[in-house]
Amino acid sequence: MAMKENSLITSSKEETMELGKKIASLAMPGDVVLLNGGLGSGKTTLVKGAGEALGVKDPVISPTFNILKCYFKGSLPMYHIDGYRLEGQNLDIGLEEAIYGNGITFIEWPVYLAAILPEECLVLDFEKLGDEQRKIVFTAKGKRAEEMLRGIFGK
Ligand SMILES: Nc1ncnc2c1ncn2[C@@H]1O[C@H](COP(=O)(O)OP(=O)(O)O)[C@@H](O)[C@H]1O
Ligand SMILES: [Mg+2]
Repeated sequence: MAMKENSLITSSKEETMELGKKIASLAMPGDVVLLNGGLGSGKTTLVKGAGEALGVKDPVISPTFNILKCYFKGSLPMYHIDGYRLEGQNLDIGLEEAIYGNGITFIEWPVYLAAILPEECLVLDFEKLGDEQRKIVFTAKGKRAEEMLRGIFGK
């Protein structure tokens, strides 16, 4: 599959939230965004920004202890999955049927959910460069994700 890459650096938590808002503003039902990167690299912060833009009423929290958090009170359903505790687990629990289709889905630690990931998605790789700097590399898998990349980078 064709893959297109782009990257940027954010210099504050707020800038990463702005990026989340931008992604949310482009979101369409069925979009899936994978978030790779170590602890504290900014994955949940980006999803918080997205939730704000969608008008999600509940505060977006890390789903680490919930696996899946669903937000239905915004302009588009938002699903937030954390695969961190799913390493080596049987994934035949219907997660994908429940979520893919009517909203935007953000997945932290997708590496542990490899068996149920869609082929087409937008992949973000976070890297902590310093206290406040985060490098984020975007990889578009599929035409829809390329369209989102063009929306984000304006080309
Ligand atoms: N540029 C930045 N982008 C995102 N978070 C940042 C940035 N600079 C500092 N931070 C801080 O880093 C932490 C990121 O935490 P979080 O988003 O929960 O990471 P993750 O979900 O990847 O473990 C927060 O405490 C946030 O305030
Ligand atoms: Mg997190």
